[in-house]
Amino acid sequence: MDILKRIKELTKIINQANVDYHTYDNPTMSDYEYDMLFKELKELELAYPEYKQPNSPTDKVGGVILDRFQKVTHDIPMTSLSNAFNFDELADFYHRVQKEIEAFELISELKIDGLAISLIYENGNFIKAVTRGDGQIGEDVSENVKTIKSLPLTLTKPVNITVRGEIFMPYESFYKLNMEREKEGLPLFANPRNAASGTIRQLDSSIVSKRGLDLFVYTIANSDDFEIDTQHKALMLLHKLGFKINKRYGLSNTLSDLFETINDLDRTRQGLNFATDGVVVKVNQFNYQKELGYTARHPKWATAYKFSPEVVETKLLKITFQVGRTGVITPVANLETVEVSGSNVSRATLHNEGFIRDRDIREGDYVYLQKAGEIIPEIISVNMDKRDKQLPFEMITNCPDCNSVLVKKESDADHFCINPDCPSRNINQIIHFASRNAMNIDTLGEKVVETFHGLGYLNNIIDIYSLKDHYDELIELPGFGKKSIDKLLEAIENSKTMPFAKLFFGLGIKNVGAKVAQIIVDELSDIDTIMSATKEELTSIFEIGDVIADSIINYFKDEKNLEIINFFKKNNFVLFQEKVKKLDDHFFSGKTVVLTGTLEHFSRNELSDKLVLLGAKVSSSVSKKTDIVIAGDQAGSKLTKAIELQIKVLSEQELLEILNEE
Ligand code: IVH
Repeated sequence: MDILKRIKELTKIINQANVDYHTYDNPTMSDYEYDMLFKELKELELAYPEYKQPNSPTDKVGGVILDRFQKVTHDIPMTSLSNAFNFDELADFYHRVQKEIEAFELISELKIDGLAISLIYENGNFIKAVTRGDGQIGEDVSENVKTIKSLPLTLTKPVNITVRGEIFMPYESFYKLNMEREKEGLPLFANPRNAASGTIRQLDSSIVSKRGLDLFVYTIANSDDFEIDTQHKALMLLHKLGFKINKRYGLSNTLSDLFETINDLDRTRQGLNFATDGVVVKVNQFNYQKELGYTARHPKWATAYKFSPEVVETKLLKITFQVGRTGVITPVANLETVEVSGSNVSRATLHNEGFIRDRDIREGDYVYLQKAGEIIPEIISVNMDKRDKQLPFEMITNCPDCNSVLVKKESDADHFCINPDCPSRNINQIIHFASRNAMNIDTLGEKVVETFHGLGYLNNIIDIYSLKDHYDELIELPGFGKKSIDKLLEAIENSKTMPFAKLFFGLGIKNVGAKVAQIIVDELSDIDTIMSATKEELTSIFEIGDVIADSIINYFKDEKNLEIINFFKKNNFVLFQEKVKKLDDHFFSGKTVVLTGTLEHFSRNELSDKLVLLGAKVSSSVSKKTDIVIAGDQAGSKLTKAIELQIKVLSEQELLEILNEE
């Protein structure tokens, strides 16, 4: 078989199948057939890397990891648009155009709420994707953009074209991502736009490939090179070339037509699976666009009409309070259920006392509610016309659960329950400790924790490890039984070998999320070093500031917390170094290791956990201090640097051999 020929052929067939599926919504082969071809190509590329095509669809799964993004100057600058916030301002735009052009057509396209991207193709092959940046200079995010399923890697014609479009995160991907982040204790993205731009700035493209970004294309920057004379024809051509375009656009010839088009678009956008924040109105004819030209900042031939966010009024029935795992008290508005921007809302956070006071929000008030960034419902203000005898808000002084006196520091907006025995605090702490990204005690979820806590079996995280002493009682509990308790106890036993960073995160220290926990553990390695670290030592770690350092120091001042730490120490949990020390003679112990590229047998996290258990320190960048670089598929600049610095490089195969041997 002519391997090169087959690789080229597979590349072409799979790229075409991708376009058929994602752009034209018209799958031309079964999933199975697709998977088989994909597998064949992947295997051939592995065996004959020299034949791999630059536009290979196998790159769509990501894997390249960069140190930073290269700056790129846009050949044709990426301008932004003037805004129109209401129909009056839109009419002004229309009349300004009318002054110069007698009769013209307008094309109105939905304004997708994501981030602008410029895509460069040569000979019909994808070459580069560059962010908008300041409009003149952007960043090369090609590796990340390549992972977007609907991006065609090869066009249907061998053209040289620069196109512009919007990368966005569909709601479904957005909700999924935030759910995962919540479990990991990471801050949530406020809206799909932030999530999309955060994702496109990831240096590890395999993370991007998992986040479900999507892309609409709307402009041909070098439209003069093609035989088209309107924006409408540009959209059709883009579609024909294999790009996904948003088909919701309308043409209008008069101002009242335009208003109608916009109202139509506004009405139908609710059910869409992506966020929109307005309508981009463009003069359709290119010759008129040229005639109108640009102001210093914007094209005169287009404007962005912004939808006003939907605001609804509803009654605030009651303000209740939640106790978080750190003891933070959050006031919550319990509302008469209303629909806003397509979903039912009956609760909204009131953040803290200051938020309520600033707006003078009172129980029984009628309040205006808006979905900020279209997602998180927020109370914006009170309808004072309906204010009657409602009493001013009073912040509670005692914990709604344990009744102990709340504490608020001058520097903090929040009130805290500092009673270490507070049931709500403890329950939330236990739930956090057992959660997937902490100790991953599978079946110890919210309901079970609440039940066991109510029955007195679980008062704090230490109690988790003496549940086995109550075996006979537990299996008798309604809804449990032998099988489920056995499974639970097994998961608890397994958690004892969790890597230190997971346990450290599981402690639930205020401001210490999963990532921060990992950083601290990477730097300070064992609990004694962390406990004795001074504020200066903690803040000397790159990502750690005063707030986190103070939380950590305060955590270890508390007698109750020290009890917990001593328990883990006494019971030889992985954290506490003993185990690691025993492994002193392992190949990896004491070595600083950097992982790069995609590995076949492990996820990065898995391998990293494993190496830490073997006594290695896993670091994210290659420097003179690095001892070993483990290079998977498509290792990028880190591998180059390792070779430059003459650092030992292991392939996955070599790694497996070492792990098996020892
Ligand atoms: S045309 C010079 N069309 O909105 C014309 N923009 O400030 C450039 N956007 O930066 C933009 N959907 O990120 C155009 N259908 C659409 C759009 C769109 C979203 C974004 C784009 C641009 C911003 C306008």
